[in-house]
Amino acid sequence: MITVNQPEEGTSTISVRSVSKSYGDVRALDSVSLEIRSGEIFGLLGPNGAGKTTLIKILTALVPPTSGEAFVAGYSVTRQPYEVKRRVGWVAAEVILDDDLTAMENLWLQAKLQNMSDWRGGTLRNCSPSSASGTGRTVR
Ligand SMILES: Nc1ncnc2c1ncn2[C@@H]1O[C@H](COP(=O)(O)OP(=O)(O)O)[C@@H](O)[C@H]1O
Ligand SMILES: [Mg+2]
Repeated sequence: MITVNQPEEGTSTISVRSVSKSYGDVRALDSVSLEIRSGEIFGLLGPNGAGKTTLIKILTALVPPTSGEAFVAGYSVTRQPYEVKRRVGWVAAEVILDDDLTAMENLWLQAKLQNMSDWRGGTLRNCSPSSASGTGRTVR
């Protein structure tokens, strides 16, 4: 599930225009276009390998499309990825913990991504990975 923070009701929240994505020889997306307006709940369905995750990654500015354009809350995923990332939330069905990080660092990262200014009774700065040594670093 992805959510988009956007103030204006009725405007196009997600706009996908002829987006294609290839991984080498694999054509994951072939000229996909869709519009999702503010307030709409949109289900993106398809069998394994259909390209759902690839499209979500493009809409969250994690991977660029090979061609085409996509906009989230009016911002281009390729030209304004930071603005896009500030506005989207993604709850993945799969476990998305980073194996290279400690439990504390994973919690800190998720809190940061969710814009949580206060976490575990202290500020994020107090809970940053560098200050977490001795508490979270041994827990994996
Ligand atoms: N990083 C990648 N490298 C190479 N091929 C990939 C990569 N990610 C996805 N694919 C391929 O792209 C196609 C679409 O995958 P994906 O977007 O994960 O589909 P879905 O989420 O609908 O199962 C599949 O054929 C998959 O094997
Ligand atoms: Mg998938």
